Amino acid sequence: MPHGLTRRELLKLMSLAAGVGVAGLLAGCDEIAEKINSRPVRKNIATLVPNDPIVVSYRTAVTAMKALPMSDRRNWTRQAQIHLSVCRHRSWLVLPWHRAYLFYFEQICKQLSGNESFALPYWNWTTHPQIPPVFWDQSSPLFHGNRTATPTSSVPASIAGPTVIETILAEDNFLLFAGDPVALNSTTQFGPGAGPLESGPHNAIHGFVGGDMATFMSPLDPVFWTHHGRMDELWVEWNILRNNPNTNDTNWINTTFTDFCDRNGAPVEISVLATILMPYLSYRYDTQVTP
Ligand code: C2O
Repeated sequence: MPHGLTRRELLKLMSLAAGVGVAGLLAGCDEIAEKINSRPVRKNIATLVPNDPIVVSYRTAVTAMKALPMSDRRNWTRQAQIHLSVCRHRSWLVLPWHRAYLFYFEQICKQLSGNESFALPYWNWTTHPQIPPVFWDQSSPLFHGNRTATPTSSVPASIAGPTVIETILAEDNFLLFAGDPVALNSTTQFGPGAGPLESGPHNAIHGFVGGDMATFMSPLDPVFWTHHGRMDELWVEWNILRNNPNTNDTNWINTTFTDFCDRNGAPVEISVLATILMPYLSYRYDTQVTP
């Protein structure tokens, strides 16, 4: 565990993870442990049939978000505008910022679908280089009309194939893997230098999908959230499965983000430190057996 974790922050994160208030948390430790152990699994979308409850809930939540008024921070377009106006790129904040963005988006999906076991599915573009079929059904809210990719176009192996990914994951230096440092609480949208995961497959897949995905309003396309699910899964693979340490630089760990809203649309504040714990407490990937 990195240093700097306060009791207050741990409690807050655990209560978020377990979907209870801090009072409830203190009341039932066994129950909390059980909830953490059975936390929802983020699955490879290729393993899900179109009427799997996860895909159904994703459709329900997207429809609901699109129907919310613009005054609600959970509105679909407002969620994308967060990215346009305050995303963090080309620095060591790209991974935690997008992890937090997905975390709260997933919370909103749980709330609006009524499915507490919902976990955001991810698109593994290494093993399945075509945009998944569920995004091509024109009657579905997961369809997005302005992509330049087609149902049969494939991400080239030279961009996101197994060799490329293995080379990226083999880098064990956090700064070289994740991106260049920026100051504590930096809000710059474009830092001094991206890591190879961001500058390589990440950017190329935005361009490959095209349309809004090739712009900073990319979260308008429901594919975005599953693309970043894969990015986050690769960070979990690097950090947790392969046991490579994140930096313990306090300029990174103690940076907080105030860009997101919770499942009820209320603004929240979340630290980089809290994002490190999310895959242990709130969700896990189907590639992540233990912890
Ligand atoms: Cu903030 Cu894939 O982008």
